[in-house]
Amino acid sequence: MGTYKRIKGTKDIFGDEIDYWNYVEDTAKDLFHRYGFMEIRTPIMEEEELFSRGIGQDTDIVQKEMYTFEDKKGRLITLRPEGTAPVARAYIENSLINLGSPQKFFYIGPMFRYEKPQSGRYREFYQIGAEIFGTDHPLADAELIVLVFDYLTTLKLNNFKIKINSIGTPKSRENYKKALKVYYEPLIPNLCEDCKRRFNTNILRLLDCKIDIETAKKAPSILDYLDEESRNDFESLKKYLEIFEIPYEIDSRIVRGLDYYSKTAFEVIHKDLGEQTVIVGGGRYDNLVEQLGGPKTPAVGFALGIERIIEALKKEEVKIKKRALIDVYIAFQGERGQIEGIKLSKELRKKGIKTFLNISQRNLSGQFRHADRLNARFTLVLGEDEISNDIVTIRDMESGEQTQVERSWVTEIILEKLNE
Ligand code: HAM
Repeated sequence: MGTYKRIKGTKDIFGDEIDYWNYVEDTAKDLFHRYGFMEIRTPIMEEEELFSRGIGQDTDIVQKEMYTFEDKKGRLITLRPEGTAPVARAYIENSLINLGSPQKFFYIGPMFRYEKPQSGRYREFYQIGAEIFGTDHPLADAELIVLVFDYLTTLKLNNFKIKINSIGTPKSRENYKKALKVYYEPLIPNLCEDCKRRFNTNILRLLDCKIDIETAKKAPSILDYLDEESRNDFESLKKYLEIFEIPYEIDSRIVRGLDYYSKTAFEVIHKDLGEQTVIVGGGRYDNLVEQLGGPKTPAVGFALGIERIIEALKKEEVKIKKRALIDVYIAFQGERGQIEGIKLSKELRKKGIKTFLNISQRNLSGQFRHADRLNARFTLVLGEDEISNDIVTIRDMESGEQTQVERSWVTEIILEKLNE
């Protein structure tokens, strides 16, 4: 029989890597709660149509990246490629609007996209996302960007850049699209294959082409085509960011890869990962809830990729606190030793001490080796001598030093040693 391998574009996360994941997720939960966001968990699978309608038929995600399958009743099911459409669906389906507006949600979880795997690009990846429903006020947009800034700096990241843009309302975008067509039409023969295709299907995406960068740089700017409302909101957003003292840049080529956006669009890149790798992406989506059959509800949000944030932490060599795996390993000999070990493990765990009780048939020296491999701080020995004298041997696994203490004192003494 052959062995099994994980599916291309997925990963196993364990060992030191887990410390990064906990750091990123715990910091997010703590901070997002501080900004008044409530956690929401939605299913990993949804009806296919939620995404084809929500994200847009002509996007890369819907055209070629979704994991879609038929279930046993022939229904089309998709593994979620992103979190915004599912959260909007949950908001509508559970009538969350009745809880008052605006409302703020955050989520952490895996997303699935059939993309070409490469560094920082996976087929199963994790996002942390935040969404605000029920306000069109640009202060909401600003607050999300403040949260992103606060989060990245709390993680101790420095080399990132926040870029903002406004892509206007769908109506104002029509005029801009016309101007883009005029600009790009004579250039078509020289464009890359993706751009040639997108010229007809999704012309805005030509602006964030990773190949024809110079051509995109010279294209007309969307900021010159904004309607009055979008322009005013963009001005307000900039004003708020200045009051909050958040550094940002304006980049009129940010268009985002999903069709639901209107007005504000923003991205964060990290200098050590390269200009092309977006670590956070978001923006306003005032029409999505209505488009999915809900009441007209303006909304704004963002999502960040955990793998990319961790990559940035490694590049900047941010020190992550290791969770001490095991404080105490309990080694024993014989039946009475085992019974005493079980009792002692209960006592220690009750006090919050991370305890690994021997659960194998190994002899004492085998147990010492095991404790060593597990990086235990102390090993407590309950051998025959210890049992008959009602004592415990404490072995300091760093110095190798051994001391013997009375059985009834051992928990207190370990607590003291761990606090030293
Ligand atoms: P997105 O730009 O498609 O936006 O994804 C957000 C972030 O997810 C990216 O910036 C990146 O860090 C990460 N990401 C995306 N694809 C991959 C991948 N294949 N491998 C690793 N990381 C990836 C959204 O998904 C929107 N729902 C964001 C949003 C929320 N807009 C409004 N609210």
